[in-house]
Amino acid sequence: MKKDRKRILVTAGSTIEPIDPVRYISNFSTGLAGYEIAAACAERGHKVCLISGPSSIVPPMKVKVVHVSTAREMMKAIEGLSGKIDCIVMAAAVCDFRPVKEAKRKIKTKRGFSLNLVRNPDIIAGIKPEKEQIRIGFALETGTIENCRKKALRKIRKKGLDLIVLNTKTPSLDPFGAGRKDFALLWKDGREKRLKGITKKAMARILVEEAERMMR
Ligand code: CTP
Repeated sequence: MKKDRKRILVTAGSTIEPIDPVRYISNFSTGLAGYEIAAACAERGHKVCLISGPSSIVPPMKVKVVHVSTAREMMKAIEGLSGKIDCIVMAAAVCDFRPVKEAKRKIKTKRGFSLNLVRNPDIIAGIKPEKEQIRIGFALETGTIENCRKKALRKIRKKGLDLIVLNTKTPSLDPFGAGRKDFALLWKDGREKRLKGITKKAMARILVEEAERMMR
C-alpha cells in the first residue's frame, strides 16, 4: 500500500434499537455526513471501511460497507476489524439508550405501556487508542455553536478524540440531511475552524484534508 494511502474507518447513520418485532427507537440521522466522508476518503485514494446503521443512501464506490442495526452491532463490527486503522471517523448518531428488553411479540395497544431504557455502550470511548491513530468524533447539540463549544470540548476529553465536528440544532438550523449547514471543527489543542453554510460534501472534503494533515 502506498505510504500516504491510509486505512480509514468511518461510521455513519443512526442506530435503531428494537422495542418489539415491529417497532424501534432511533434518531433523525440520515447517514449523509458519514457517507460523504467515506466517499471523500475513497476519492483521495484511501482504503475505507464504512460501518453504517440503516440509511437509504447508496454507498460510495470503492468503499467496503458493513451494515448494522443496533449500537451493539456497530460496536461488534468495529471490534471485528483486523489490522491497523490509521483514522477513525465516528460520524454515526449512535442511540444512547435501548429498551431494556426487546418484546418477542408485538406489544398490544389495549393497555398503555411505558418503556424502560438502558444506556448503550459508548463505542468510541471504548475503543482502545492505537499508536499514531487519529480519532475524530461528532458532537450534536441543541443550541448555537458558540453555546455548545464547551460541551464539544468536554466530549473530546471524555472520548479521547483528536478532533470533533460540532453541529447543532436550533429552531432555524436543522443539522439532519442535505442542504447548507454550519459546522465547527474543534481540535484537542483548542484550535478551531468554522465552516459556515456549506454542504456535507464540502465539509467532508475539508475534514479529510485535515485528517490527512494529522496523519502525516
Ligand atoms: N458515540 C459513540 N457511542 C455512543 C454515543 C456516541 O461512539 N453510545 C460517539 C458519536 O458517534 C460521536 C460522539 O460519540 O462521534 C459524540 O456523540 P453525541 O451523540 O454528540 O454525544 P454523546 O456521547 O451521546 O453525549 P450526549 O448525548 O449526552 O450529548
